[in-house]
Amino acid sequence: MTILSSGTAATPAAPALLDVYARVGPLLVGGEGAELIAADGARYLDFVAGIGVNALGYNHPVIRAALERAATTGIIHVSNLYRTEPGERLAEELVARSFAHRVFFCNSGAEANEAAFKFARKWSGKSEIVAFSGSFHGRLFATLAATDRPDYRKPFEPLVPGIRIVAREDWAAVDHAVSASRTAAVIVEPVQGEGGVRLVDAEWLGFVRELCDSRGVAVIFDEVQCGLGRTGTLFAYEQTGVVPDILTLAKPLAGGLPMGAVLVTSAVAAALKPGDHATTFGGGPLVAGVALDVVRTIADPAFLAAVRRKAEWLEARLARLATATKRVADVRGRGLMWGIELTEPATPFVSAARERGLLVVTAGPQVIRLLPPLVITEAELERGVAILEDVLA
Ligand SMILES: Cc1ncc(COP(=O)(O)O)c(C=O)c1O
Repeated sequence: MTILSSGTAATPAAPALLDVYARVGPLLVGGEGAELIAADGARYLDFVAGIGVNALGYNHPVIRAALERAATTGIIHVSNLYRTEPGERLAEELVARSFAHRVFFCNSGAEANEAAFKFARKWSGKSEIVAFSGSFHGRLFATLAATDRPDYRKPFEPLVPGIRIVAREDWAAVDHAVSASRTAAVIVEPVQGEGGVRLVDAEWLGFVRELCDSRGVAVIFDEVQCGLGRTGTLFAYEQTGVVPDILTLAKPLAGGLPMGAVLVTSAVAAALKPGDHATTFGGGPLVAGVALDVVRTIADPAFLAAVRRKAEWLEARLARLATATKRVADVRGRGLMWGIELTEPATPFVSAARERGLLVVTAGPQVIRLLPPLVITEAELERGVAILEDVLA
């Protein structure tokens, strides 16, 4: 399919929507594969994918079929007071494919991390949380306190106490911050997303793991953005050599329906009893049914091998792009999650790309972030990178 995007005047702001998003671009009405379709018929190649949500792209047959199947049962939601099959099967699937023994379902990434903090507190009997520079864990109160974005934090102070941010990959700083008597957990994104697409050093992660083991502290991996195939393996932790005690997922989990998950070891699970945590919608039959098929699709070894092949191609192509323009200071990433760090602000180039039919997003002021759907083709990747090369020239 070709990109038909023409001039794309910004959509006027919707006056009835709260003004917390700087929405830009056209009114989007449909999608197919890796393309979004605007009301005027223009097509956009989507290297944002709902900021990592739409791993299977748009109008994917697996998601359509799962939605249709769920609709025929007539039960979109049943209280967690009762049993339903899709959530039980999804939990079994995630357990079978990971280090975890039990799973809790919720509705977003921030909720998953908030739950992870509570679980770590209950398991450890301690209260403090240590997070790292460049991190993003959400915008609810505890997760905001663990998020290293002064502009997001400042207007809402005082934040939740007992959560501190220390320098990432600073061995002495983490050694000093993690206390055997006070620290419940450390939380790390194995690949930081919002913080500029940064691979966290595996050796340092191993040191953090050892430190936490010796001090009775839980290691939480936030794989909300980098998990579920994004880096070329089902979970990003598989490539770090470090196994967490708690792992959080969200974004792509239910193919665009809101869903989060907290995966925990049996030791953490043993500390929790009915009433310790809950959420009305978590793991309902509609979202869990779709998520089950999404997880099975992504976990297919052939699917993951295809992601890795495309990743290899993209890595080489981006290295070429970096040498072609002096505006690029660094290119980094893994799988289909890449950051192009510029020597100047990234937003004008994001707008210029959109004008040419390519959607990309920033990750901090000078980084263009690429999170294409995992189902994207090599030809589409080439088309997108060529547009980027053009706007950066
Ligand atoms: C690593 C990470 N954790 C947590 C979150 C928060 O997820 P949500 O927006 O679903 O609350 C995000 C969102 O971008 C994220 O990238």
